Amino acid sequence: MSEHFDVHGGARLTGEVEVVGAKNSVLKLMAAALLAEGTTTITNCPRILDVPLMADVLRSVGCDVEIDDDVVRITTPAELSHEASSSAMSKLRASVCVLGPLVGKLKKAVVALPGGDAIGSRPLDMHQNGLRKLGATSSIEHGCVVAEADGLHGAQIWLDFPSVGATENILMAAALADGTTVIDNAAREPEIADIAAMLGEMGAKIEGAGTSTLTVEGVAELKPTEHRVIGDRIVGATWAFAAAMTRGDVTVTGVDPHHLELVLEKLRLAGAEVTTYDGKGFRVRQPERPESVDFVTLPYPGFATDLQPFAVALSSVSEGTSMITENVYEARFRFIEEMVRLGADARTDGHHAVVRGVEQLSSAPVWASDIRAGAGLVLAGLCADGITEVWDVFHIDRGYPNFVENLNRLGARIDRVGTPGPEAD
Ligand code: EPZ
Repeated sequence: MSEHFDVHGGARLTGEVEVVGAKNSVLKLMAAALLAEGTTTITNCPRILDVPLMADVLRSVGCDVEIDDDVVRITTPAELSHEASSSAMSKLRASVCVLGPLVGKLKKAVVALPGGDAIGSRPLDMHQNGLRKLGATSSIEHGCVVAEADGLHGAQIWLDFPSVGATENILMAAALADGTTVIDNAAREPEIADIAAMLGEMGAKIEGAGTSTLTVEGVAELKPTEHRVIGDRIVGATWAFAAAMTRGDVTVTGVDPHHLELVLEKLRLAGAEVTTYDGKGFRVRQPERPESVDFVTLPYPGFATDLQPFAVALSSVSEGTSMITENVYEARFRFIEEMVRLGADARTDGHHAVVRGVEQLSSAPVWASDIRAGAGLVLAGLCADGITEVWDVFHIDRGYPNFVENLNRLGARIDRVGTPGPEAD
């Protein structure tokens, strides 16, 4: 038997919740540790399933990885293997981020194709093209990305789209290339700035982090460092939406509100009273039923695709009609089928969804298809009558530390029922 959550409807969330380090940063920082022989220490790490999975990936190339509460210590040996083949590779997308460091350090990598959320097509062409520009060959063979180079040299690289993963892989490979690399149309997510900051502490020379042009002056060697992961803006935003949906009053700490400017502005438009605390957090109070707002997902600083399920869930209980446009991952609207089970008045046409708000959702059994969809269904369940069963909750555990405990502390009533399924090993 696998686990599910019984979510009791009718909660109004109030109180304070602390956000720890970002999943989509820590996993890449762990990969970056491959670039320097010795022990790299990463602090403020979230206790989520993806961290031990990434540790297994690093162990498969010869690292020693210790996870001690919220601290991860990675010891990279002098002799690393270029083959990353752990079974964990297929369980998370971020595993592909060992490609750039391995090519950068060893000039050779065989990396099993990654897994991760089923949210639509996730090709690696931009990762491969970037490495080719740096002088490597790259092909897909027997389920692996294979890359090899005699030496890496700086290059001008234009990305077709500001891909987060491609920017990270190219950045990490370029850090140890000869000469100067310029990445244009680079991703600007705060997690990219975080990895650039850590690489800088390791001795890399990077300019333009957080902008769409990154300039990397290659260096011969990097040294290990100690780095604190930035707060998880997606988790912080999840609590913000939870407050708005339940007409609650929630203070969120541990996350920089500058990383959520557009999100908080959307919630203000929905009628929330939002207070921000510089660099530290924010408070969201929703006195009345939310009003409908339109959302369009785009790379940062646009509205994050990872928050689209929460935009749909909020719209489903708002007054009026919302249009939600998904520009990054076409399959993310699968979430809407589950919302319809809960009584949402929603339909999709291509990458647009129209959601007419209802006064109250109606409990039903629903299935999480990915991390954010799972969390979105739990928030929707809080606004439904009766008890909503949310299944396949291992997805939620991959991305949210203490999800149920945090919600219950804020006044929700959610019970975790059953035993962990095989996925949560
Ligand atoms: C990261 O995925 C995040 N994952 C995702 O979060 C997030 O949804 C996504 O960025 C967008 O913000 C991690 O950081 C582990 P991309 P990533 O490369 O790097 C296309 C979550 O819920 N593309 O920016 O894989 C791609 O198909 C997860 O935490 C190519 O066409 O995303 C997509 O349409 C889910 N070719 C778009 O670019 C490529 O070579 C953006 O993808 C690479 C990407």
